[in-house]
Amino acid sequence: EADLESKLPLKGKKILITAGPTYEAIDPVRFIGNHSSGKMGFDIANEAANLGAAVILVSGPTYFKVKNSSVKVINVISAQEMYDACHLHFNDVDAAIAAAAVADYRPKVVALQKIKKVSDDFSIELEKTKDILSSLGAIKKNQFLIGFALETENEIENAKLKIQKKNLDLIVLNSLQDEGAGFKKDTNKVTFIDKDFKIEPMELKSKESVAVDILNKVILHFSNDED
Ligand code: CTP
Ligand code: CA
Repeated sequence: EADLESKLPLKGKKILITAGPTYEAIDPVRFIGNHSSGKMGFDIANEAANLGAAVILVSGPTYFKVKNSSVKVINVISAQEMYDACHLHFNDVDAAIAAAAVADYRPKVVALQKIKKVSDDFSIELEKTKDILSSLGAIKKNQFLIGFALETENEIENAKLKIQKKNLDLIVLNSLQDEGAGFKKDTNKVTFIDKDFKIEPMELKSKESVAVDILNKVILHFSNDED
């Protein structure tokens, strides 16, 4: 019996995960988006459920489907919708992992009709979206909070700043430097940095394996918690 239990180390834990891009409407037919496939977040959600967790996956537009049918999927489109869905559930969860590539800016006004090509030059005024992860960090109680960081320069320094600014327990730094890592790829090269700034570079590996590594951090946290 003990053996069975150990295969479900996240049994009894509730985990909120964000995944995918967000789409910010320009008009009824156009949006600002990004190339995030959602794979990283979906792999984490699947694996967490396989390890026994009750998983709520808040996902932006993606063609991915969850393999583990116990995952509760909430489909959203915009950053604001993702923010609302996360805040609806955050108080109930034991951990949250923000793998979504949330748009940083959105059109200040959404045109009600399709914008016609009248002038030669055209620009759209943008405004910041809410930072979902920061907002969760600001209200967290016991939740173990994990964020991602995508950096192209001063990677470690910038990631450390994000840990502090967003009140995170762990950040998963994504290297775009590496050929095999990032958007539209099945592999990822990450570095873990914890809230004490302990740095742990990982090998290039499949996103499934990165998901396992991330969840091992969650498991470790909960096992230390119970001691
Ligand atoms: N994030 C979020 N809400 C936003 C923007 C980002 O929840 N509006 C989360 C992402 O899901 C990720 C983390 O914040 O876990 C870091 O995202 P990243 O784009 O690397 O950093 P930003 O804080 O947006 O800063 P910048 O893009 O300027 O580096
Ligand atoms: Ca960003």
